[in-house]
Amino acid sequence: MSDTVSIRAATPHDYDGVTDLLRASYPALVRDAYDAATFDAISPVLTVAQPALLRSGSYFVAEAAAGIVVGCGGWTRERPGTGEIRPGLGHVRHFAVHPDWTRRRIGQGMYARCLAQAKASGVETLECYSTLNGETFYAALGFRSMGRIEVEMANGVKFPGIRMLARI
Ligand SMILES: CC(C)(COP(=O)(O)OP(=O)(O)OC[C@H]1O[C@@H](n2cnc3c(N)ncnc32)[C@H](O)[C@@H]1OP(=O)(O)O)[C@@H](O)C(=O)NCCC(=O)NCCS
Repeated sequence: MSDTVSIRAATPHDYDGVTDLLRASYPALVRDAYDAATFDAISPVLTVAQPALLRSGSYFVAEAAAGIVVGCGGWTRERPGTGEIRPGLGHVRHFAVHPDWTRRRIGQGMYARCLAQAKASGVETLECYSTLNGETFYAALGFRSMGRIEVEMANGVKFPGIRMLARI
């Protein structure tokens, strides 16, 4: 298996590749941080690619040989859930890396693309609703933990996470 990975902006054609990646990543890397009932309730929502992100121009995929998607992540001006926009504030969105490809700086590489784009767009602070397991990753990227939150998902399920902020 070649180790070469390239990062590019996602398109709507990445729907299946990103969904396959999320379905591999969440059970392997997120499940253990939640009780079984909570994970089973949030998993169907979080393991499907979001079309609005794929066409946003600010969502990225990491592609390995033969076009296999092994990472995804991006940012938006819109706050997830409410769509609210505040000047100078951006939101980190739906990051995941395939469990066979973790700790190779793929997540960090996708975040670097987000950071450059967000800064160039006038964003001064990035907010992230991290999974419980994702806190150390975002802390390594310079985010501060602001406390536990419960994000209400599209299906009404409450998803425990951590609100994190980074001045960029
Ligand atoms: C969080 C996630 C995207 C990180 O992707 P990754 O490509 O493995 O991360 P990177 O290799 O870029 O890691 C960068 C740094 O973050 C920290 N980090 C990343 N994963 C970590 C882990 N599991 N434990 C501790 N620190 C971690 C480390 O400091 C790491 O640098 P190092 O490897 O030199 O020590 C990946 O673990 C994942 O897909 N998790 C499941 C989905 C998820 O929770 N996403 C967050 C949604 S809010």
